[in-house]
Amino acid sequence: MQRATHTALYNWSQFRIQHCLKCRVPLRQSSRAYSVVPPPRDSDERNMLHRILRVDHAGEYGANRIYAGQMAVLGRSRTGPLIQEMWDQEKKHLEKFNEIMAENRVRPTALLPLWNFAGFVLGASTALLGKEGAMACTVAVEESISEHYNNQIRALMEKDTERYTELLNVIKEFRDDEIEHHDTGLKHDAEMLPGYWLLKNAIQLGCKAAIYASERV
Ligand SMILES: [Fe+2]
Ligand SMILES: [Fe+2]
Repeated sequence: MQRATHTALYNWSQFRIQHCLKCRVPLRQSSRAYSVVPPPRDSDERNMLHRILRVDHAGEYGANRIYAGQMAVLGRSRTGPLIQEMWDQEKKHLEKFNEIMAENRVRPTALLPLWNFAGFVLGASTALLGKEGAMACTVAVEESISEHYNNQIRALMEKDTERYTELLNVIKEFRDDEIEHHDTGLKHDAEMLPGYWLLKNAIQLGCKAAIYASERV
């Protein structure tokens, strides 16, 4: 995935210029007084943004627990480093949403304890089916998450692309990572698992329910 060549020194105060940390050249002028999410104009916008952040945070939290479960079973196997690599990216995603939530005083979903348990059990139980089981789970979950991110991207762009630029950039970057995880699962024999389509559909049904509930509770 393409990353920016310059490391930005973030300063989101009004009318400050961002500089590259390495070469100190100005990157671009920013007039933003916030980092990722604009201060809501009204309660509708506030509710919409909080709902987005809450469900995305819940998804990244659940993904972390799934990879933790997979690592508990397959950590010492040949697939361990591959799972660890994807988990490390999920840790960064979760960290970013933790940061945005704290900055905007958004409460996480009340269902986190459930996702903590369910995520780990899903990861560990599919990993017990072997590498193919773990990868089938990864394909199912990552496809659901990337579709969910795509829906959010579409909705935010329909509302106001300019206003939500920073949030869109975060979601797009994470969406690309989730697609990579999905493709990794396919490349590593997810479809070889007997009953792959059945398991995939069952997990995706669960993901849909989890997304629905985390947006509301
Ligand atoms: Fe993620
Ligand atoms: Fe992922």
